[in-house]
Amino acid sequence: MGIVVSLLNHKGGVGKTTSAINIGAGLVELGKRVLLIDLDPQANLTISLGIPRQKSTIYEALRGESELTPYTYKQNLDVITSSLDLSGAEMELINEAGREFILRELLSQVADDYDFILIDCPPSLGLLTLNALTSSRYVLIPLQTEFLAVQGLAKIKQVIDKVKFRLNKQVEMAGVIATMYDSRRVLNRDVVDTIHKYFGDKVFGTYIRDNVALAEAPAQRKDIFEYSPKSPGAADYLALSREFLDRVENGIHAKSVAQREQEA
Ligand SMILES: Nc1ncnc2c1ncn2[C@@H]1O[C@H](COP(=O)(O)OP(=O)(O)O)[C@@H](O)[C@H]1O
Ligand SMILES: [Mg+2]
Repeated sequence: MGIVVSLLNHKGGVGKTTSAINIGAGLVELGKRVLLIDLDPQANLTISLGIPRQKSTIYEALRGESELTPYTYKQNLDVITSSLDLSGAEMELINEAGREFILRELLSQVADDYDFILIDCPPSLGLLTLNALTSSRYVLIPLQTEFLAVQGLAKIKQVIDKVKFRLNKQVEMAGVIATMYDSRRVLNRDVVDTIHKYFGDKVFGTYIRDNVALAEAPAQRKDIFEYSPKSPGAADYLALSREFLDRVENGIHAKSVAQREQEA
C-alpha cells in the first residue's frame, strides 16, 4: 500500500512542484515505485515533465467520468496529469456528498502499485487541498528561504489540525523543506534560523540550494536526475529523499541517520 504524501504551501513559487518532481525522482533513484499526482490547475508538474494532454486527467477522475489513468514518465515514475479544467472542480464538486474524500477513494484503487504517491497541491487551501490532506499520511511543506517565509504558516497548521480532527486522524506533518537556499546570503541564514525556531526538528537537515539546473530542467521536460545528475540540485534532492525515507521508516520523530552519526 503506497504511502501518500502531500506537498503543501498556499504560497506560490516556494518549490512545491520542483520538490514533488525531484523527491519523486529521488525516491525512484532509491529503488521505490512512485506516482506523482498533479493537483494544480496550472498543471506545472505535467508540463515540466513534457507530458502531452491526456484524455483522462485528475479532473475527469474527480468528476467520476473516468478511472485514474497513470501516465508512465519513466520506469517506476508514473504521473496523474492535470489540466486547466481542474480550476472549475472546486465549484463543481461543492455539492457532492463526501466531497473531501473523492481523491482518497480514487487513490485506494491504485495505491498497491506504488511505494509512494506524492501530491503536488495547488497554491490555495480550498477543496482540492482538503482532498489531498484527507488522502495523505504525511505532509511536506516547502519553504523558500526568504523574508516572510513563515508568514501565514499558522494557517497551514490550522488546516492540517482541522483535517486531522475531522477527516483524517492519520495525517501528520513529516517535515519542512528549506528551498532555494543560498548560504552566502545572510538573509537566507537568518530565515533558516527563524524556520528552526518555528518548526524545530521538523526541518530537514538537507537544504535545497538555489541551483540553476533545477530551474532549467523543466524547460527540457526532465527531472533533475535526467537533466543534470551531477548538479548540486540532484545531490540535494537525493539527500533529501534519503532523509525523508529515513524518517518514514524510523518514525518521523526519530533522529535522522545524520543526527545519530553526528552524536555518536
Ligand atoms: N532550488 C531551486 N533553485 C533554483 N530555482 C528553483 C529552485 N526550486 C525551484 N526553482 C524555480 O522556482 C520557481 C518556482 O518553483 P515551483 O517548484 O514551481 O514552486 P511552486 O510549485 O511552489 O509554485 C520555478 O521556476 C522553479 O524552476
Ligand atoms: Mg506548483
